[in-house]
Amino acid sequence: MRILSGIQPSGSMHIGNYLGAVRQWVNSQNPDAYYCIVDLHALTLQIEPARLREQTVDYLASLLAAGLDPEVCTLFIQSQVPYHAQMNWLLECVATYGELSRMTQFKEKASRQEGYRVGLLTYPVLMAGDILLYSAQQVPVGDDQRQHLELTREIAERFNNRYGEVFTVPVGVQPKASARVMDLQEPTRKMSKSLASPLGLIYLNDTPQEIDKKIKKAVTDTDNEVRFDWESKPGLSNLLEMYSSFSGESPEVVAGRYDRYGDLKRDLAELVIASLEPMQRRYRELRADEGALRALAARGAEKASAVAGSVYERAAAAMGL
Ligand code: AMP
Ligand code: TRP
Repeated sequence: MRILSGIQPSGSMHIGNYLGAVRQWVNSQNPDAYYCIVDLHALTLQIEPARLREQTVDYLASLLAAGLDPEVCTLFIQSQVPYHAQMNWLLECVATYGELSRMTQFKEKASRQEGYRVGLLTYPVLMAGDILLYSAQQVPVGDDQRQHLELTREIAERFNNRYGEVFTVPVGVQPKASARVMDLQEPTRKMSKSLASPLGLIYLNDTPQEIDKKIKKAVTDTDNEVRFDWESKPGLSNLLEMYSSFSGESPEVVAGRYDRYGDLKRDLAELVIASLEPMQRRYRELRADEGALRALAARGAEKASAVAGSVYERAAAAMGL
């Protein structure tokens, strides 16, 4: 199965990224799977150059620590494969201003700042190129990327109709649970790197004390009835779904074991700490050898280029270049 997915190296990786996307990547990795750290996408918002460089390496280590195996799949850095930027231009001449300006994520992010960058608007085109360059059949992502995936399909179909069959039309795949992990302080808003509230996100590298504190302080309602119900109990349901994602049980079964929020929170904190601990240990080992991480990314970029290059050439030729 040809798979491609990506993650931005902005902020630190959090459990929304892990449960919504990265864990699926690990479970579906195969010799035809390509995973990239999309550093070009990270330029759409303000980020210090040194920080971007540093975090890109952090993300390599985090993805390996989470279980990606470079002997099985291909892991690479987007900017090291120049076809992504080149394909972006071809597809900017296929996508329309109207469809880009209707994207929910664009409208949200643009409304929060003045003088936003053009890249914020065209971001989904770059993403479509990431996917189409690899002829991906499946794209494992969290729920917030659904709309971008639909647009990618639309762009691929339009291109194929206009210029001939070059692209595979991909489908997005969401996990059964935790496709949308919510902020612990504002459970009606998704956990998000770009809106980091200090207590609302659990990062993969948080200490046990931090995890414990954040879960204990998570916002819930006051009626103290443990029930899985997103409509009337979003905060509690978020905790139950998180529990269920780490333990493999259904959220209803988990809910049935508890009478008090405090007990659920205590056990959830323990479960999250224990689940992240082996990843944190591997992360520290891997991150200590930056040379090895960079060498691995270079090999990944070489493998990725071979695939992306041939699709790019076909797309360019089809358009008359
Ligand atoms: P990003 O950090 O925006 O690059 O997202 C990387 C991946 O994590 C994408 O597949 C997102 O859909 C997924 N993701 C981000 N935030 C969440 C969340 N709160 N819940 C579930 N998945 C998420
Ligand atoms: N836009 C995605 C996000 O913010 C990241 C991304 C970029 C991506 N290119 C991609 C995801 C290609 C899947 C496939 O989460």
